[in-house]
Amino acid sequence: MKFSGRTDWPRVRNRLTQILESKKKSGAPLIDLTESNPTRCGFGYLTPELLKPLSDPGNLAYEPDPHGLRKAREEICGYYSEKGVSLHADQIFLTAGTGEAYAFLFRLLCDPGDPVLLPRPGYPLLDYLADLNDVKPVFYDLSYQDAWRMDEKSFPKHFFKTKAVLVVNPNNPTGNYVTREESAFISGVCLKNQCAVISDEVFFDFSWEGSNQERKSFAGCADALSFTLGGLSKFLGLPQMKLGWIVVNGPRKEKEEAIQRLEIIADTYLSVNTPVQNALPVWFQNYKGIIREIRERCLQNRRFLTQALEAAKPVRLLGGEGGWYAMLSLGGFVSDGSLAVRLLEEYNVLLHPGYFFNTGSGREIVLGLLSPAPVFREGVERLLKCLHF
Ligand SMILES: Cc1ncc(COP(=O)(O)O)c(C=O)c1O
Repeated sequence: MKFSGRTDWPRVRNRLTQILESKKKSGAPLIDLTESNPTRCGFGYLTPELLKPLSDPGNLAYEPDPHGLRKAREEICGYYSEKGVSLHADQIFLTAGTGEAYAFLFRLLCDPGDPVLLPRPGYPLLDYLADLNDVKPVFYDLSYQDAWRMDEKSFPKHFFKTKAVLVVNPNNPTGNYVTREESAFISGVCLKNQCAVISDEVFFDFSWEGSNQERKSFAGCADALSFTLGGLSKFLGLPQMKLGWIVVNGPRKEKEEAIQRLEIIADTYLSVNTPVQNALPVWFQNYKGIIREIRERCLQNRRFLTQALEAAKPVRLLGGEGGWYAMLSLGGFVSDGSLAVRLLEEYNVLLHPGYFFNTGSGREIVLGLLSPAPVFREGVERLLKCLHF
């Protein structure tokens, strides 16, 4: 069988994965500092109460709508209206998670081989989504000053056939929100080159303290054609419910055409299940409480990290403004890959080497901030021991 070229990814397990597999097999007690699944992190909001709306008898009816059920979309409009963004429910499409939203948008905007611009460092799943949808990932860089910022010089001079510029707001794993200047730059570039902005805002509500960076959603961006993504996996800490959304905005004619075409794409799959759509208005009633709990965990772990790294120069915590991750610079001390291997082999702690996110320097590591504080602390203490502090 000759399988498709688009799935010709290297399938050999790297050293880190091999060690992880053998540790798991031997039953070694691991500390997972890559944890990003909130359902494994002992949060109080995960109570059986959450499941109550799923047994609503209304779930026995099937009334499909390519946009998703109106009452769920109206709830999402309400959420944006609290942020000062006024939307109509027809501008919203529900999807079975953000991954599917990306697939719909790449299919909407691109012919096979068309380039899309992605941030680097960035979330590795985006490369796979690009491959799977036959679009060509081309990277623009974020560079670090006191936080990560878009390097405008790294954008291509000619956008020949480029159909979309992707921003992650705030970016995973670097934690930078799109600044006002960057937002104007992106809209300008997209208008000039007739391409669309895709803004992934799944972490939008998880800002960190001390950051006075203004946060602005692209959902209200009508200068250029824009698609803003959100979803329950991060926003409500419910990845198992598989519900994401796309907000379509932009100049009237383009926006309307995009909506009509997306209706046909979404109608072809109708993949979002009814019970979760019906439950969304109930779950949204407590969204602030859930965000508060997850955000507080991230802040607590980040505070600990700041203190713990005070005496660990040249290792330092890199600045950012929000999200579920912390990025550390190793300052030339040791490479990201060899540290990750040694830490797992000798200290039973798993973290992400920066190369996983395309950092390119080999000098950064990434920790997830969701673990319960005692687990996170123990992991960081072992990391410092491994670095000889
Ligand atoms: C930036 C970003 N976008 C999207 C996703 C995936 O979200 P979903 O679970 O809605 O598919 C993730 C998951 O970690 C992410 O980090």
